[in-house]
Amino acid sequence: MTLPEGVAYREFDGAERLATRGTPAYGEPVVDGWRVWDAGRSKLGAMFDAGIDTGLSGSDGVLYLGAANGTTASHVADFARVVYAVEFAARPMDDLLDAAAARETLVPLLNDARQPDTYAHVVENGLDAVVQDVATRGQAQVALANRQFLADDGRLVAALKARSEDVTREPGAIFGDALAELREGYEVLDTRRLDPRHDDHLAVVARPR
Ligand SMILES: C[S@@+](CC[C@H](N)C(=O)[O-])C[C@H]1O[C@@H](n2cnc3c(N)ncnc32)[C@H](O)[C@@H]1O
Repeated sequence: MTLPEGVAYREFDGAERLATRGTPAYGEPVVDGWRVWDAGRSKLGAMFDAGIDTGLSGSDGVLYLGAANGTTASHVADFARVVYAVEFAARPMDDLLDAAAARETLVPLLNDARQPDTYAHVVENGLDAVVQDVATRGQAQVALANRQFLADDGRLVAALKARSEDVTREPGAIFGDALAELREGYEVLDTRRLDPRHDDHLAVVARPR
């Protein structure tokens, strides 16, 4: 697994931790300009820690779905060329705007990821990656609807949350259904459960078909 340029393991209090270089966004430790990317608060961070090959590289163009207050999106914006960060809840927007004010590469969008037509006039086509972490029902459909922004050799890097689909069904069955749906538009390259750091979440790396 290769980390994107601009992402590295650095020493913090004697321990090697994932980190990016940028302005702190959520009270994380900073040493020599590098700030800890807390994998306990970030599914993408947990994917890197698990050694998953996400296909992300430095200077990527990224569409980030489910940005919340920008914890993970701020780290991606530290190494990417541009990050279009979509979040539909107004509450975390203040924090996301603060993270964006410190980074020219972070473009916050108050939109619903199920309705890509509402931001298609802002987001460029041919992007290198769609990173998805939306706590909503129909996560496979969200990925399919946003496939239009990806380059042919781009990557979907998604964290699927079982409980957002159905709290009563077994997560494995939910993931099986979601992957079958995803395969209508993507070739699935890798999957990995993110337990115990992120319970009942499945990491998925895929490319458009
Ligand atoms: C688990 S949080 C994201 C955390 C964030 N990715 C991070 O690592 O910093 C999931 C987010 O998805 C957002 N969300 C859920 N449905 C959405 C939708 N249809 N469009 C945009 N955002 C959505 C929620 O408001 C919530 O902020």
